[in-house]
Amino acid sequence: MSLNNKNILLCITGSISCYKSVDLYRRLKKAGAKVKIVVSSSAAKFISPYIFESFGEEVFEDDAFKSPLSHIDLSKFVDIILIAPATYNTINKFASGIADTLITLTVAAAPDKPKLIVPAMNPNMYANKILKENLKKLSLFNFSVISPATGAAACGDFGEGRFPEIDDIVFEVESALKEKRLKDKKVLVTAGATKEYLDPIRFMSNGSSGKMGISLANAALKAGAEVTLIALNLNIDNGSSIGGCAKYVNGRIKVINRTDFAGLKEALLDEFKKTDILFMAAAVSDYSFKEKSPIKIKTKDVCETEPTPTLKIELIQNEDLLKAVSKIKKEGQIVFGFAAETDSVLENGRKKLAEKSLDYIFINDVSKDIIGSDENEGFLINKSGEIKNFKRESKESLAEKLIEEIS
Ligand SMILES: Cc1cc2nc3c(=O)[nH]c(=O)nc-3n(C[C@H](O)[C@H](O)[C@H](O)COP(=O)(O)O)c2cc1C
Repeated sequence: MSLNNKNILLCITGSISCYKSVDLYRRLKKAGAKVKIVVSSSAAKFISPYIFESFGEEVFEDDAFKSPLSHIDLSKFVDIILIAPATYNTINKFASGIADTLITLTVAAAPDKPKLIVPAMNPNMYANKILKENLKKLSLFNFSVISPATGAAACGDFGEGRFPEIDDIVFEVESALKEKRLKDKKVLVTAGATKEYLDPIRFMSNGSSGKMGISLANAALKAGAEVTLIALNLNIDNGSSIGGCAKYVNGRIKVINRTDFAGLKEALLDEFKKTDILFMAAAVSDYSFKEKSPIKIKTKDVCETEPTPTLKIELIQNEDLLKAVSKIKKEGQIVFGFAAETDSVLENGRKKLAEKSLDYIFINDVSKDIIGSDENEGFLINKSGEIKNFKRESKESLAEKLIEEIS
């Protein structure tokens, strides 16, 4: 679990979106975090602290005088302080050094701990220059901010100020707790399956879900890299969530959507020039149709006295993109390939690593129901021939491990 044994202090302040912090709390717990909660006096008017107590949590009232050293104890307990939702009032207090509540006092006692602010307020309040200046100031002092979503506020005003998606908040918490091993590195990931069209409707493809590539892109971003994802047929809309955690794509990832081999090749060779590390996780078709019909291919009438009509299709072999990339590879660039094998898994993996001049190859034994699954297992082989076996685990956690391996 991504937040295993991490200590998180969830501070809830008095916004109309307080109720969303219950979902947030549950997601943090599901990710393995230990969570303590402080509910401000205003927040307690919007949601009852009893909700969290019902889940068995210790909830602190925002009264620093109730228990003499709770702010010091809490500041020592935390790996990260998450203020969600964070009000206009509390954010500006942080920036002014005011410490008159348990939340502001605990934050004051934890200058070296990471603090993540999730502003949620009316769009005019969020646009207020006092707040904007104070958020800028706080970024110099171990605070980071998750930009609110844009949409209609509870009062009917439209603009930026809504509580963001829970996926985005959990991602940023995980990211804030990760070592930035890939800082200043540019990472390119390909994910998904190519579709080779026979006519405007019919195509040849495979069952790759893109989850491994997406997990690698997210993991590289958390490790501090600038990430570009070439997404094949994944319907990613400007890098947002495409349903379900396994397909969550953080909005800071640059997404290039492509369909077929030709589109992938063009984007890959162009982007590779600007890349330090390439993860080639897409399932690329080895063949394309020699001819593509511009109109739908019609069926012929079956005549009972004659044999069933057949359609003859010719396929041409596609260029090997990993070989193409290795040819233009410059000193210091890393190419990480993936291979799906059903037999002689290690032998075939070693052969591909050498033939395609790769730095790493991860070999999946796809006979083990991996394609399209949320989990993966396989062998990592590096250039020196060292082999590491990775047992079955979620694609997200495997991606984190592979990023650690190469960094
Ligand atoms: C109905 C209502 C809704 C509010 N919603 C918000 C909000 O979404 N964001 C915000 O910053 N303040 C909001 N406020 C104002 C804060 O609750 C108020 O500034 C309060 O003093 C915040 O205290 P705290 O920061 O200690 O929780 C709202 C107030 C009311 C009465």
